[in-house]
Amino acid sequence: MSMSRGRFITVEGGEGAGKTSNLTFIRAFLESAGKQVVFTREPGGTPLGEAIRELLLGHRHTGMADETELLLMFAARAEHLQEKILPALQAGSWVLCDRFTDASYAYQGGGRGISYQRIGMLEEFVQGNLRPDLTLLLDLPVETGLQRAGKRSDPDRFESETRDFFTKVRDTYLAIAREDPERVKVIDASPSLEQVQGQLQATLTRYMEKLDA
Ligand code: TMP
Repeated sequence: MSMSRGRFITVEGGEGAGKTSNLTFIRAFLESAGKQVVFTREPGGTPLGEAIRELLLGHRHTGMADETELLLMFAARAEHLQEKILPALQAGSWVLCDRFTDASYAYQGGGRGISYQRIGMLEEFVQGNLRPDLTLLLDLPVETGLQRAGKRSDPDRFESETRDFFTKVRDTYLAIAREDPERVKVIDASPSLEQVQGQLQATLTRYMEKLDA
């Protein structure tokens, strides 16, 4: 088993999938199981990473080249891994991360059209063989997600994208889940929050039982 021993969990999802409330739920679940949890996010998680996040999500650089966007995601990730994720895993903590490299495949690959092979090169360069142990994908139809997210004000540079872009993002996430069903668990995010949390609880319980076995 990898050095992370099953303790590296990521959460992914499109617009309006309820990522924030569900992350709070997942964190509480892990903590109530007695786990020490480092909770973090991408892009971001470190002071430099958060500065890069502002460049990526703000509207100052609207015409950013796709390659620049991808490289900034991975620059923030390199910093995040060295400064936060790897030290936490080495110290025996669990790491719960709001988005990770699957988002680069979905947004910069599927959405922007950069080849998966090129993203794979960066993944290997920055991460070596580190991959998340479990990824929870909060999935819902693009239309439903946009309706839910539409209630928010001040859309960021990604939230301002088109429906077509988000359809490609979703399709890419689902394709990743089909290719790697052991790691990526699809959670149907369209029913009520309670029902979504029921699915999360069942999935996490099964996961922990398997780890302890
Ligand atoms: P969020 O905090 O709302 O999830 O915002 C992060 C945004 O950044 C979201 O729109 C997805 C995007 N993103 C990428 O495009 N590529 C990446 O690798 C990551 C981590 C996020």
